[in-house]
Amino acid sequence: MNTQILKMIEPTVEMEQPFWDFCSAFDSPKDIDGIGMMRHAADEGFAKAVELSLLSRTQSNVKPGWVAQTTFWLFNDQNQMLGTIDLRHELNELLFNWGGHVGYAVHPDHRHKGYATFMLNHVLEYARSRSMDRLMISCQEGNIASEKLILNAGGIYENSFFVDEYNKDVRRHWITL
Ligand SMILES: CC(C)(COP(=O)(O)OP(=O)(O)OC[C@H]1O[C@@H](n2cnc3c(N)ncnc32)[C@H](O)[C@@H]1OP(=O)(O)O)[C@@H](O)C(=O)NCCC(=O)NCCS
Repeated sequence: MNTQILKMIEPTVEMEQPFWDFCSAFDSPKDIDGIGMMRHAADEGFAKAVELSLLSRTQSNVKPGWVAQTTFWLFNDQNQMLGTIDLRHELNELLFNWGGHVGYAVHPDHRHKGYATFMLNHVLEYARSRSMDRLMISCQEGNIASEKLILNAGGIYENSFFVDEYNKDVRRHWITL
C-alpha cells in the first residue's frame, strides 16, 4: 500500500459525489458487496439511504428477521471513495449459512493495493470493540482475492455450501477475535 492517508468513515451526506463515483464502477449499488443499506441509494435517494444506514446500526430499527449492521467507507486523502465494508452484528439463518458477518468491495481501479486488508482490519477492531468473539466470513469458490484476504486475517476454513443463486460453492471461514 502506498503512503497516502486513509480513513474509514460511516456513511454521511457530505460524501454524495464520491459515493456515486464509486458506484459508477459497478452495475448498480445493489450489486456492491458490503454496501449495506446504501444499496437503496438509487431507488430511495442518497440522503434517505444514508439515514437508513445509520438507523440500521440499531437492532430495534431493522425489519423483523433482519440484523443490525454497521457500514464503513474507505477514503483516501483526495476524497476518493475506494471501498465499502459492512459488519452484521449477528447472524440470522441465511447469514449463518452463507452470507456471513462481513461483506466488502474495493473499486476495481484500486484493487490489489491492500485496501481490503485495511478495511477488514478496521472492522475486526470494531467487532472486538463490540465484544463479538468470532466472525464468519464467506466467499464464492474461485474468488481468490477474497479468500486470501480472509485467510490472511486469520480465517479458518470450515466447509462449503452449494448456493443455487451463484451456481457455485460458497466457502465458509471463521475468524476468532
Ligand atoms: C475481494 C476484494 C475486496 C479484494 O480487495 P483488494 O483491495 O484488492 O485486496 P487486498 O489488496 O487487500 O489483497 C488481499 C489479498 O488478495 C490478494 N489479491 C488481491 N487481488 C488479487 C488478484 N486479482 N488475484 C490474486 N490475489 C489477489 C492480495 O495479494 C492479498 O493477498 P496477499 O497479501 O497474500 O498477497 C476485491 O477484489 C473486490 O472488491 N472484489 C469484488 C467484490 C468481492 O468479491 N467481494 C467479496 C465478496 S465475498
